[in-house]
Amino acid sequence: MRNVREVKTPTKYVTIFHYTEKHPIYIILHGLLFAFAKYFPSFSAKRGLIRLSGMKVGEHVMISPCILDPIRPDLVELGDYSIIGWDTLILTHEIVRGRMRIGSVKIGKNVTLGARSIVLPGVKIGDNAIIAAGSLVNKDIPNNAKVGGIPAKKIRLKWIKN
Ligand SMILES: CC(C)(COP(=O)(O)OP(=O)(O)OC[C@H]1O[C@@H](n2cnc3c(N)ncnc32)[C@H](O)[C@@H]1OP(=O)(O)O)[C@@H](O)C(=O)NCCC(=O)NCCS
Repeated sequence: MRNVREVKTPTKYVTIFHYTEKHPIYIILHGLLFAFAKYFPSFSAKRGLIRLSGMKVGEHVMISPCILDPIRPDLVELGDYSIIGWDTLILTHEIVRGRMRIGSVKIGKNVTLGARSIVLPGVKIGDNAIIAAGSLVNKDIPNNAKVGGIPAKKIRLKWIKN
């Protein structure tokens, strides 16, 4: 079960900017910040820029060009030495038929989040976990787990044995 909470919305048919979670200017500024940081060649400068959003980014995290959620970036934690693969999407919000939920995402230390993976709001990924490319992480992943697929399930890797 994901750890999410529902946000009250004013009407049934609304855009992202009508939600009461954050002011539209906050969302736009963080969107621009992430767009600027996306292809930054220096990982340490990129970490510094992304930290300006309130995201807790550990030491030596390698953040490839990916999509970070501008609505509540402060709810994301990336553990030391983790690798955030190309084109991954880390969400702290989800909207379905005009209803919205918010949840924090914690990615432990030394995690590999494979390219094009999607992490839904409210999940924790344990230390040393490997998430194969193109996975959907829709529940907590334990320490040292190796998972892949949609939704992500345990897989046995040939390359990385332990
Ligand atoms: C996780 C990964 C490293 C595994 O490599 P590997 O050990 O050579 O894995 P294999 O191809 O031998 O596959 C082992 C098993 O896992 C499964 N598997 C591998 N990748 C998978 C994926 N992305 N989704 C679902 N299942 C996957 C295979 O089907 C196989 O299952 P089987 O034993 O039932 O046949 C690789 O699949 C991967 O995702 N690489 C991308 C890493 C990445 O994006 N890094 C960050 C950006 S550089």
